[in-house]
Amino acid sequence: MVTTISSRLSIDGRSFEYDLKGNFSWGPDEVLYREDADVLEGTSLKSLGYANVPFLDETEQVEFKCRVKAVIDRIIAGIPQLHGQILPSLERYHELISDPDLHREVISQTRELRFTDLGLDPHMIESRIGGFLGVTLDSHVKRLGRDHIQLRISRPNSYDINPPHRDAYLDVWKNVLNLWLPVCGCSDLSSLPVLAGSHLINEKDVFRTSNSGAEIGENQYRVPGIADTRVGMTMVRPNPAANEVLAFTPFLIHGAAFNQDHSTTRMALEFRLEIEGQRY
Ligand SMILES: [Fe+2]
Repeated sequence: MVTTISSRLSIDGRSFEYDLKGNFSWGPDEVLYREDADVLEGTSLKSLGYANVPFLDETEQVEFKCRVKAVIDRIIAGIPQLHGQILPSLERYHELISDPDLHREVISQTRELRFTDLGLDPHMIESRIGGFLGVTLDSHVKRLGRDHIQLRISRPNSYDINPPHRDAYLDVWKNVLNLWLPVCGCSDLSSLPVLAGSHLINEKDVFRTSNSGAEIGENQYRVPGIADTRVGMTMVRPNPAANEVLAFTPFLIHGAAFNQDHSTTRMALEFRLEIEGQRY
């Protein structure tokens, strides 16, 4: 039965409550993460399920941010209702795009990007992150048949969030490494929360919706939304620095990235790399 429940969680000691709609149940008695199948078992991600990894130097960060701005400018220029208005900066996105329908129009385009759209060299990314973790990575996600990159935008005082979830509930993401790269406005008030060590939690201890069955407000989500676990929903923000990327297993529970910074839009790039040899 579809119901709306008031879901509670905490992030770095602060409490949050929001309405999550769906058909909820406790899962079957199984742990989806398997040591024998998982290459990340041999890396620094093993115990917590995530780590901040060194990534772009200062020059690369400036160039990368300019490219993201160019992508957003191109999208905004193509929206007739905006009559050619210009975005002053990425951080002030919410001042121009306050209307929910306009925001939906923008994110319908930012969720389907490619590495070429951002001028990023996939081989540099694969070797830099793979080299640090000691694994072989490939930007071509086999089950997807292409690369995948998405710009996440979270405006201040908004519900521009996903409910907590595991990407690996969807088969297409079981053999990838998740990467979350700060673009602007990322801080201990706004960056992505995770439930540390949650990749090891048994499904019988997870209270969640079915696939494509979670809704927050007007937005419906493909991955099941997690309302609670028997070990609680005490999340932390790893908050990668500007020269880092947050790397995490797709089995880790993450989401609910409320932007508590009242004056700054938060943007982050989310991408996924195939882990060679992982066998789910
Ligand atoms: Fe996710």
